[in-house]
Amino acid sequence: MNAEPLKVAVLGCGVVGTEVVRRLHGAGPALAARIGAPVELAGVAVRDLSRPRGVGIDPRLWTDDALGLVKRDDIDIVVELLSGTEPARTLAVTAMKHGACVVSANKALLAEHGQALHETAAHHGVGLYYEASVAAAIPLLGPLRDALGGDRVTRVVGVVNGTTNYVLDRMTGTGDDFTAALREAVDRGYAEADPSADVEGEDSVAKAVILASLAFHTRVLREDVHREGITAVTATDVADARACGRVVKLVTVLERAAGPGHRDGEEGVLVRVHPVMVERGHPLADVPGADNAVLVEAADAGPLLFRGAGAGGTPTAGAVVGDLVTATRRRLLGHHGTTAPVALPLRARTMRDLRTRYHLGVEVTDATVALDEVSSVLRAHGLPVDSVQRRRTAGRDRLVLLTATVGEPSLLSAAKAIAALPSVSGPPRFMRLLDSQ
Ligand code: HSE
Repeated sequence: MNAEPLKVAVLGCGVVGTEVVRRLHGAGPALAARIGAPVELAGVAVRDLSRPRGVGIDPRLWTDDALGLVKRDDIDIVVELLSGTEPARTLAVTAMKHGACVVSANKALLAEHGQALHETAAHHGVGLYYEASVAAAIPLLGPLRDALGGDRVTRVVGVVNGTTNYVLDRMTGTGDDFTAALREAVDRGYAEADPSADVEGEDSVAKAVILASLAFHTRVLREDVHREGITAVTATDVADARACGRVVKLVTVLERAAGPGHRDGEEGVLVRVHPVMVERGHPLADVPGADNAVLVEAADAGPLLFRGAGAGGTPTAGAVVGDLVTATRRRLLGHHGTTAPVALPLRARTMRDLRTRYHLGVEVTDATVALDEVSSVLRAHGLPVDSVQRRRTAGRDRLVLLTATVGEPSLLSAAKAIAALPSVSGPPRFMRLLDSQ
């Protein structure tokens, strides 16, 4: 056992930071034995020193001078638990310049500046660790980077946002309305400081960018990710999903897209975040509350399911401390750097390349006439239909159709034509399907 303690600075003391500080404060011989040296909490930077934090550490450890803290040359590890890209990026870079390894749970930072941060870390011979940034407690990034490093990942499909899963689960299970369910998710500490990042899908987009770098070894820009959040999901969508043996989930999908259907045959990657109706029986259909689940499909390994707690102070802090253990162990061994994900240029595909199945809900004034008219529009667009139902919802007649696998551009163009039909009373609602196969 090394007698010299490893010094840790923590930036940010919100839901996750409080848990991390608590663990470090109480870290006894067990953690030291696991690492090979004691760990000492050397400082905690917060914006507002007057706010009570509920952790009884030495009052001299609190500071509102984060920059001063990361400039200290005696700090071995900086744990960055801020939200947003600045000042997090500046602080992480400064910490590295001063010789500290950085552990971060900040997905916005990693998605925006991951590549540059890896380069800075390599330049200064320090490590960069961020397992907690995606799917909290679930060990996902490590397996993608290391254990699957020799395999060829073909598809990643997951529920990677706990807040939206919690909201949709409440809407499905108890019929709670969106606002009440979101308030609960915020109270439980699952949501971002600004929960619109969760419900509008931004948080999932950032996680998708990080996943792309490790699963596909490529750099996907946030702007290249198709994003739809859950704010437009209605109680009718949830009921429609139930009626066809499905459940609404916000999913993040990354898939290689090449070959048939792509005129130039060049391989690309299509990354998208949007609600789907998942067939019951699919591993993502029964993910409860704020849990996450990610299905990784790889050429050699086949399908692998990662599932567990995806948000909240305790699970996220567990992943942060796990990274801290890795970082400190490596530092003691003199292995200072970590390998940056290789950036291969894979072309970002767009939703025009997507082929999938759809749920279409069409409000009609005359169901019999509409059935003829809608069917003829779908035929004209070459869109085969697997099933059609007439339904009456809230006193209105509707047609509910499930398509076969079709191209998104044709579906959109058919939806526009259907909206203009005399027997149809508004634009059709559509949602993509995720089948259990
Ligand atoms: N707001 C995030 C979520 C926290 O709900 O998933 C975990 O990244």
